[in-house]
Amino acid sequence: MTTEPLISPSPKHPGSARVAPASEGPHPFLDKEGHKIQALFDEIAPRYDVLNRLFSCFIDLWWRKKAVKSLRAKTGSCILDACCGTGDLSNALLDQVPGAVVIGSDFSLPMLLSGKHHRRDSKKLALVHADTLQLPFPDHTFDGVMVGFGIRNVVDLDAALGELRRVLKPGGRLMILEFTPVRQRWLRPFFNFYQGKILPSLGNLLSRSKMRAYSYLDESVRDWPTAERLADKIRATPFHAVNWRTLLPGNVAVHEAIRA
Ligand SMILES: C[S@@+](CC[C@H](N)C(=O)[O-])C[C@H]1O[C@@H](n2cnc3c(N)ncnc32)[C@H](O)[C@@H]1O
Repeated sequence: MTTEPLISPSPKHPGSARVAPASEGPHPFLDKEGHKIQALFDEIAPRYDVLNRLFSCFIDLWWRKKAVKSLRAKTGSCILDACCGTGDLSNALLDQVPGAVVIGSDFSLPMLLSGKHHRRDSKKLALVHADTLQLPFPDHTFDGVMVGFGIRNVVDLDAALGELRRVLKPGGRLMILEFTPVRQRWLRPFFNFYQGKILPSLGNLLSRSKMRAYSYLDESVRDWPTAERLADKIRATPFHAVNWRTLLPGNVAVHEAIRA
């Protein structure tokens, strides 16, 4: 196994994304066309991890640690980390189950490569350059599939869930860690201010993002279904034993399910 990307199937997103004008109105990448999302993550890749830690006050590490437990991975389990980015979720899993084998896939090569310096164990983590909508794996390959803060960016949620199900073994476990609308009314003004004002202005500045990646982050989270709605979609894929819980401070949810 290697930490260099194994397969480069040239994800089918020709053309380059145009820079979004900093005007009022919905962010132009909210349509989530693959080539735009890919370009956006290519752009912020060098500073992605640092800004994650900064803006979450390091809570993101704890979210991932809690979330990977849902997969109940064991020594020898083969786990897919789809939309793996720099590999933080893969690392969290390998920290807990050093004997597992993780394959991380992502369509942004700069994201895959910029996580290289903090990978835990190159023998247990392989990287694949691939679109989550067209995973280059046979049916029933994995014991577990996880996605951390990635599925919100995929243009077709139902198709992505179907593809994740396809590569899971029957009885295999799915885990999705994703932002979720805050349920507590009294917390909403704080999140609206932080996520809607502080995060976009500071994030766009510090990441030097011409595509206004952190404005997209805010708007894509607002546009994202409630945890109940996401659970319904997972159930409809179909998966069974679908459960979810929120993690503190309430803006993140972990969904888990078993492949029917
Ligand atoms: C917010 S980052 C999350 C990275 C990582 N999972 C984490 O926990 O930090 C989202 C990642 O999803 C990837 N992504 C979005 N849509 C994708 C798709 N259709 N296929 C593959 N990767 C995708 C992006 O390139 C990016 O690296």
